[in-house]
Amino acid sequence: MEPPAPREPDSERSHPTSEDLELSSYLEAATAEAPARAEPTSVRAEPVEAPAARETIIVIDFGSQYSMLIARRVRECHVYCELVPHDAPWEQVERLNPRGFILSGGPASVYDEGAPQAPAYVFESGLPVLGICYGMQLLAHQLGGKVSPSSHREYGHAVIRWADDVGAHHDAPLHTGLPPSIPVWMSHGDRITELPPGFRALAHSDSSPYAVMANDRGLIGLQFHPEVVHTPHGKQLLENFLLRVCGCRGDWTAGNFIADSILRMRDQVGEGRVICALSGGVDSAVTAALVHRAIGDQLTCIFVNNGLLRREEPERVVDTFHRHLSIPLIHVDATDRFLDRLAAVVDPEEKRRIVGETFIRVFEEVASSVRPEEPNGSSEIRTVGRLEGGAVDFIAQGTTYPDVIESGAHSTAASGAPVAAGVAASGSKTAVTIKTHHNVGGLPKEMTFELVEPLRYLFKDEVRQVGLALGLPEEIVFRQPFPGPGLAIRIIGEVTREKLDTLRACDWIVMDEVKGAAMYRDLWQAFAVLTDTRSVGVMGDYRTYGHVVAIRAVTAEDAMTADWARLPYDLLAKIANRIVNEVPAVNRVVYDITSKPPGTIEWE
Ligand code: XMP
Repeated sequence: MEPPAPREPDSERSHPTSEDLELSSYLEAATAEAPARAEPTSVRAEPVEAPAARETIIVIDFGSQYSMLIARRVRECHVYCELVPHDAPWEQVERLNPRGFILSGGPASVYDEGAPQAPAYVFESGLPVLGICYGMQLLAHQLGGKVSPSSHREYGHAVIRWADDVGAHHDAPLHTGLPPSIPVWMSHGDRITELPPGFRALAHSDSSPYAVMANDRGLIGLQFHPEVVHTPHGKQLLENFLLRVCGCRGDWTAGNFIADSILRMRDQVGEGRVICALSGGVDSAVTAALVHRAIGDQLTCIFVNNGLLRREEPERVVDTFHRHLSIPLIHVDATDRFLDRLAAVVDPEEKRRIVGETFIRVFEEVASSVRPEEPNGSSEIRTVGRLEGGAVDFIAQGTTYPDVIESGAHSTAASGAPVAAGVAASGSKTAVTIKTHHNVGGLPKEMTFELVEPLRYLFKDEVRQVGLALGLPEEIVFRQPFPGPGLAIRIIGEVTREKLDTLRACDWIVMDEVKGAAMYRDLWQAFAVLTDTRSVGVMGDYRTYGHVVAIRAVTAEDAMTADWARLPYDLLAKIANRIVNEVPAVNRVVYDITSKPPGTIEWE
């Protein structure tokens, strides 16, 4: 993927709420001259040339905590890769047009009973192999060298020095552009004590005589982790392996991905009809835009307003997708239904379950209303727009690669995949889970669609690049994550309309000030929480007794861990001051300084 476009500094002034940057961009998008409507479905909007056959690096996963990071680093070098389990069959791998293998690290010891081995095809294919830590030990062990348990684990910083004659041999490509010694991050227990026949040591560290080993066939072992940031030259090393040793073209870009997945989706969908649930988040937005680019008005989006969204959010979604992108959209206002179901509920998990289940029911009613024999059974929801053109055959979902990997689905998904990327694992009809509510349930079993998941093999930053390349506004593409259960899990205790209005007003001020301070993109998330605590205050000559609002702002690379953001005091002061002055029900603001772990990002 291309490197991200240089960031435009946000305006330096503080934005009055009516000029919220996010809102203005949506409005700008909505009021801009709308592009010509997609051509009729029988005519494709754009001819797309078939890109060159995609080359893949196969990352064989031995269970390292860094396996996904290896895959991300490879993609950053514009080379497509997939993570496969160590027992993946050759047929699964062959379909991907492999150009080389990376054997990940892992917690096992090569001599453990049942320790995972590199599959025979890795060596029989004749392709280059990069073994990292456990992967290197496997190379040594399986190719006739010796690995011994170490009395102590080597963990942390080390410096490796290249051998004097490195570069004189076949190994020059690996070493290109690197200084004579480089800092690296080690994390291993066992060590290699005897190289396999045909291998030589290319580099050593104080405690590892074989920090890098290689043979003439492009089989390479690294005792350290090139994928982590603590190995500053790691990316160069990986790039050398990918481009110079494996000979990859390095042409994995957003443009190529789009062209490729358009062809795949057209092939999958044919003349079928597709629906896509929009959440307002980046994944579903990019999915919808990509599917629409491929099949035009065969796609209809469904946007369910659950009444738990931020201020003006439903209007923004409708404006952007319907008016600007000209994507057929059904807008469902199910606020009453959701809030009725949530009445008197205080337990966070119960809130999640109710929001998820209600969403599914609403979605089902809307989607099934196209089937002539199944009338729309609810009077509680208001629907604008309708599905034209008969029954729906497919559902498009914004599943991304971390979802696939974290759910363990990559162990089977790719094996059944008719293609390497762009569409669902198999052509069979599958009961699916709506991603934005992934933790609360799936669509009912009887509602079966074939899945279209064009982002299934993309990381978040790649999804963003694709979104930009498709012309989505930056404010959607770089939008901070927002949880499926919405403001329901940011109101501690019972969710009421009144509290929702109070929280929306606070949230608006937080966003407004964070954007005004040009910090929006530096933060993973920033938001307000309406606590169930009340406190005494004084305003003018009056005693007040109002809500305590907490501000939460965190930095994170992914949401697994997070740190509280060191927001400038002046910014915090401005937020607090505006909230107590502009939101009548609130008289105290506190700042949450808990990292994750032990805290979570959301309060519920
Ligand atoms: P936590 O609170 O677990 O959040 O640290 C991690 C990330 O996940 C988001 N989040 C959710 N997203 N449904 C969602 O779709 C949920 O129930 C949910 N709970 C948390 C949260 O906003 C953060 O980005």
